[in-house]
Amino acid sequence: MGTIFLLPEEVRSKISAGEVIEGPAECVKELMENSLDSGATRVEVEVLKGGKRYILVADNGEGIASEDIERAILGGATSKIRSFEDLAYLRTYGYRGEALHTIASVSKMVLRSRFFQEDMGREIRVEGGNIKNIRSIGMQVGTQVEVFDLFYNLPLRQAFMSREDTERNRIYKVFKLLALANPHVSFTLKAEGRTVMSFTTSQLPERVEDVLGGRYEHLSHERDGIKLNVFLSVEKGKGEVYLFVNRRPVFNRGLVEYLKKLTGKKYNCLCYLELPPYLVDVNVHPKKWEVKLKVEGKIKEMIRETIRKVNYPKPPSLIKQEEVKYKVEPRLIGILEDTFILAVYGDYLYFFDQHLLSERYNYEVKKENPDRACRSSIKAGQKLDEETARELLKRWLYLENREVCPHGRPIYYRLYLGEIYKKLGRSY
Ligand SMILES: Nc1ncnc2c1ncn2[C@@H]1O[C@H](COP(=O)(O)OP(=O)(O)O)[C@@H](O)[C@H]1O
Ligand SMILES: [Mg+2]
Repeated sequence: MGTIFLLPEEVRSKISAGEVIEGPAECVKELMENSLDSGATRVEVEVLKGGKRYILVADNGEGIASEDIERAILGGATSKIRSFEDLAYLRTYGYRGEALHTIASVSKMVLRSRFFQEDMGREIRVEGGNIKNIRSIGMQVGTQVEVFDLFYNLPLRQAFMSREDTERNRIYKVFKLLALANPHVSFTLKAEGRTVMSFTTSQLPERVEDVLGGRYEHLSHERDGIKLNVFLSVEKGKGEVYLFVNRRPVFNRGLVEYLKKLTGKKYNCLCYLELPPYLVDVNVHPKKWEVKLKVEGKIKEMIRETIRKVNYPKPPSLIKQEEVKYKVEPRLIGILEDTFILAVYGDYLYFFDQHLLSERYNYEVKKENPDRACRSSIKAGQKLDEETARELLKRWLYLENREVCPHGRPIYYRLYLGEIYKKLGRSY
């Protein structure tokens, strides 16, 4: 008698479970990606005990048709591709039909969904891959997935999960990445009963600053159907690099190393690429978010051309001084009420208070004490010529603290240009 036999289906599903879902963060990632694939404009996530005890991902997307809901948790069940060739045109995050199946087989899961063309939703309860209950329920259009006790039936995997706060931090990271990739979607994350992050629908430059904090300079470039948006932190950071290809947070060693080199590892950098899907191979190693790009050389060239234009007050060491010839300065628009200097800088229209701006300079550069800095400064109501206004703007760029005067009042108020466009029904 032979010793080879086929593994029962139940075992097979658990093996692949270990591959795709390593822990709560992968679970959150897969569920959020499903929500984004469903066209949701709102995604809510909630976790307890770093996701080990409980995960909820809820969206207002198109939902799952009631006749499909059981199929959604079968292995290999996907609505996103029909054939391997479809991968070349992929516009969605998911395509393997593994995630829901896997999660359902290693947890106690409740899936609720109402399809946009139906009046009622359906709720399906699964434990360790076995359907316990299906019923119709009233709910809003969209989908909610609750995952209780991940790996409850796999004690070994359960034991290998990291500590609660490590898992929670991994979830934060996934959440931030997907929020950075999808500015037009609003996101909320609750952990241990508290709202820890919440981003309202916005435009890309605003979303970058919302998620990462601090200010970012925005540069863009477009050639031969390839679009590039780069954001560089104005202040020095940890030299973090984020790469997005067609709205998917990805990893590509070549590009990431190249970006680190260009920014001298001192500034945070986000690089958003949009290119025809057939130039991207996402199927290299989906778990690790790795992609291959068929035009890496050209993309590097575009990145170099773009970053060269950057306006660093003090250029990082690897961008040579003479290369920074496109130095962007705030563009003076005018002076309002003899008090406010209007200027465009990056994606914003700035209203500088001429008094506070000059006060900050006297304090910081001339090293005057706050009172003296105040007295020796240009006053509100004082008529400035354009040249002086330009000079003040230039000086502002080099200030250590560009935000507040020595007494703590904000130096400027600014409006996002995209918002002005939006208000007037134009796209930015
Ligand atoms: N949040 C959701 N909204 C709408 N449909 C969903 C959602 N989550 C899952 N689905 C449906 O279930 C199928 C299986 O999901 P999943 O196992 O993640 O595989 P994949 O995303 O690779 O297709 C999806 O193809 C989709 O049709
Ligand atoms: Mg999926």
